[in-house]
Amino acid sequence: MKRAMQELLDGLEDAKDRITNMNDKIHEDFAIGLNAAIGPLQMKDEALEASIEALKLDVQEKDNTHQAEIEAPKVEIQELKTKLVLCKNSIANGATANDAYTVQAAPRIEVLKPKDFKELAMTGLFSAYKMGKFNLSHRVVLAPMTRCRALNGVPQPALSEYYGQRSTEGGLLITEATPITQEGIGFPHVPGIYTEEQIEAWKKVVDAVHAKGGPIFRQLWHVGRASHKIYQPGGCAPISSTSLSISENWKILMPDGTQDNFSKPRALETSEIPKIVERFRRAAINSIRAGFDGIELHAAHGYLIDQFLKDGINDRIDKYGGSIENRCRFLMEIIRVTVAAIGGDRVAIRISPAINLFEAMDSDPLNLGLTVIEQLNSFQADTGSKLAYLHVTRPRFMPSREQVSENEEAKLMQTLRRAYHGTFMSSGGFTRELGMKAVTDSDADPISYGRIFISNPDLVYGFKINAPLNEYVRETFYSHDPVVGYTDYPFLGQEGSDKDSYMTKVCS
Ligand SMILES: Cc1cc2nc3c(=O)[nH]c(=O)nc-3n(C[C@H](O)[C@H](O)[C@H](O)COP(=O)(O)O)c2cc1C
Repeated sequence: MKRAMQELLDGLEDAKDRITNMNDKIHEDFAIGLNAAIGPLQMKDEALEASIEALKLDVQEKDNTHQAEIEAPKVEIQELKTKLVLCKNSIANGATANDAYTVQAAPRIEVLKPKDFKELAMTGLFSAYKMGKFNLSHRVVLAPMTRCRALNGVPQPALSEYYGQRSTEGGLLITEATPITQEGIGFPHVPGIYTEEQIEAWKKVVDAVHAKGGPIFRQLWHVGRASHKIYQPGGCAPISSTSLSISENWKILMPDGTQDNFSKPRALETSEIPKIVERFRRAAINSIRAGFDGIELHAAHGYLIDQFLKDGINDRIDKYGGSIENRCRFLMEIIRVTVAAIGGDRVAIRISPAINLFEAMDSDPLNLGLTVIEQLNSFQADTGSKLAYLHVTRPRFMPSREQVSENEEAKLMQTLRRAYHGTFMSSGGFTRELGMKAVTDSDADPISYGRIFISNPDLVYGFKINAPLNEYVRETFYSHDPVVGYTDYPFLGQEGSDKDSYMTKVCS
């Protein structure tokens, strides 16, 4: 019985082994079969991927060829248009048909081709720049410029068109100076930022710029004594750091287009100053509410803040006058409250220590500039708030009243630039070449362009291809027309443009 059981157990063991062997064999066969089946599939897959890659390369190559084919005639057209402009220009300037032909045959300028753009993109004005949180794709900035095209202090659709025309992807625009209160007005038809209606209207301007991908800062303005009773609420005297008037050598533009003397100002009481500081703070908040990317405090060109900074004007005996630190106090208080309200990276400052516009003279412009800069540096270090930029106007902007020589000016600007810890923007008399040089030599980060940006809505493109530029018409700088001399300057090669009418007017 025992043996019979043992035989049965052995038989079972045998059967188990056979089953295990069979299972292994089946698995083995299955694995071989599977591999045999997957192998070709994998190969097909790889072959498929390879042919997709080949196709992609082919499409890319065709696309490149196409692109080149499309660009070539575009460049040719641009070259022809440039030659045409040169030709028309020569005729307008009294050249004979023969001269015109010579110009046409040998243009004075070299128009760049798109292949050169790649190299250009790395250099000077055309190199990208990180300005705090803003990624600028080039260094050509629209300088703030008063253009008097508002209606009852409210921006009109023409402003959206004007700023929209001048915006580029990643290109910074700064608006015209905008009064923070009615008392801050000293020009006719300027758009403010102190009523809800104004904020709503500015939103459309901002939208037009943002639609093109560029940031826009608003310049905040109080003219102080550079005003006339006619612009003041209730016909009161304008306010200032002083009660001294701007002399009759300077004139103010009146609402009817005539000129008059500036009105005698009233010196602010010390206790009134916080109210003005508060107005700057409110205007900064209003700017952000209107969608602006930041604000620039106008502490330049003889307006209210400059009237505190300069010892040729500020004759106060309180804590806002006397020592250079006291004269900087008003500016620093405004910076402090605006930074607290909207953040340092949205606050910029413009100064012009060496410009005596409206008799804003200082006995030591370099020391004044350096003191402002030291205070800005300390403020940034103490608070950890980096300001957006410091914008400095070169004295050259006012050649007829120039106080300093070209050498002195270069030294002054370089000293200020080296002293400031942050983005340094320079303005005044820059051409394409001077801008390229300033950025390459690290004399400035971005450059702001004024007059030639008025007359060349696509200035950035014009600079890129090194095209001849439209001349500006000084007579229409401050006229009230929403089109003429404002939005009607022709774009490069614009069809049917009346470009030559601008080209013939030479304005210094
Ligand atoms: C018509 C006109 C209006 C200006 N308005 C302002 C202004 O509102 N705020 C300001 O800071 N500078 C103003 N400026 C000065 C410009 O911002 C700029 O610094 C000046 O034109 C020098 O640059 P440019 O040589 O490129 O023109 C104005 C200049 C012009 C020609």
